[in-house]
Amino acid sequence: VIARLPCPAVSNAVGIGLLGVGTVGSAIAAQLHERAAAIGLRTGVTPRVVAAAVRDVSKPRPTLPSGVRVVDDPMAVVRDRDVRVVVELMGGIEPARSAILSALAAGKPVVTGNKELIAAHGPELFAAADAAGVDLLFEAAVAGGIPIIRPLRESLAGERIEAVMGIVNGTTNFILTKMTEDAADYGTVLAEAQSLGYAEADPTADVGGHDAASKAAILASIAFGVHVPVAEVTREGIESISAQNVADAKRLGFVIKLLAIAERTDERVAVRVHPSMVPITHPLASVRGAFNAVFVEGADVGQLMFYGRGAGGGPTASAVLGDVIDASVNLTKGTHAALGAFAPAALTPLSECSSAFCLAIEVNDRPGVLAAVAKVFGDHGVSIRSMEQEGMADAARIVFVTHRAKEAAVRVCLDDLGRLDAVRSIASVIRVVGVQ
Ligand code: NAP
Ligand code: HSE
Repeated sequence: VIARLPCPAVSNAVGIGLLGVGTVGSAIAAQLHERAAAIGLRTGVTPRVVAAAVRDVSKPRPTLPSGVRVVDDPMAVVRDRDVRVVVELMGGIEPARSAILSALAAGKPVVTGNKELIAAHGPELFAAADAAGVDLLFEAAVAGGIPIIRPLRESLAGERIEAVMGIVNGTTNFILTKMTEDAADYGTVLAEAQSLGYAEADPTADVGGHDAASKAAILASIAFGVHVPVAEVTREGIESISAQNVADAKRLGFVIKLLAIAERTDERVAVRVHPSMVPITHPLASVRGAFNAVFVEGADVGQLMFYGRGAGGGPTASAVLGDVIDASVNLTKGTHAALGAFAPAALTPLSECSSAFCLAIEVNDRPGVLAAVAKVFGDHGVSIRSMEQEGMADAARIVFVTHRAKEAAVRVCLDDLGRLDAVRSIASVIRVVGVQ
């Protein structure tokens, strides 16, 4: 049997204006160039880079085809008459925001991978795209090459989503994996992640959890159809995760992951990013290196898992490419994807969220101390799931894992523990997921 591939009679050339030719921009330029003919045959549009903006025009850009106009002014690319779709891959808020608003106002669809911008200015940008009747697509903004925005927005549009939880930052997952498996030094691994093109221009966005918080805000907004301001996302990074924490987790049968969690709590939504201890038997525990994974739990569909490369030029450009093709096809048809309406979110404060906790406490090693510590837990209704103690001369380090408890109760418990004479320090507090 010989199957005939679809072969549109005419392929429309669509001029692409590329804002940024860095890790992702150079990869999308290469993919568009290599696959132009195949894309044209399959979809009826042939997107072609015609102009690009960079900061340093003197730097060689080997993946840009010859003839592409390279300038240092993003607005000049937006205004270029041959540019019909704008692809923003500069990152940051300005000049990306102004360039995108100008493109939309001029009726030019926009594709971006800029999670920081979408999380901070989503409603303004979505309104501008709606008013102009053109696409604003941002699949690459969350979890790199993994299709997650389109499935949430389209395939699951009618589903009642209960929770979205995932590993959405490749850099931190790469660092935590190396710390766990190779006992690697934090600084060396971070430099390696940067050289591999995973890290943001300012890597504190990764290790501080800001990048994951932007993605959590976007995921929560799309999944629950509400606007979740990134400033309202509870955020903790991995900077304070020590080799000791990694070793404790390993000994207790867990691995440490930076998780983004968005969940429905009654009719409100709780959104947070923090390091979490995950049982080694949990599917998220096996997500290693720069890979990402997003779990979606829906009332009818049950559990879904999306897994793949969450960072790096090639995988991210693959997501950008899908959006470029969609935007180009829609443009030629005079249509655009619906973003949906986003009501302001009613958010659950962190104090009302529940999870299990792993608490490491350093105490004086003398009779009665363990009983005094345990009493504080009991007084605040925080139930202990497991406990182990390690002696260190006249001191001891006690590691507790609690059952699920309200954040507020654990905070008061920690305050009271800190006031006990026998407690030298609260060495670490890490939330534990996947246990009751
Ligand atoms: P990058 O390597 O730092 O590249 C940024 C590009 O933008 C460079 O070509 C830079 O020019 C250009 N640029 C920056 N500011 C500019 C300005 N004011 N005017 C003109 N050009 C400007 O960044 P990237 O890693 O490709 O990331 C791009 C976007 O994709 C960001 O929003 C990022 O969050 C997002 N993203 C990245 C990844 C990833 O794995 N890297 C994954 C998902 C999403 P020069 O080359 O001259 O410096
Ligand atoms: N810096 C990001 C990460 C790139 O490490 O996941 C992908 O958004």
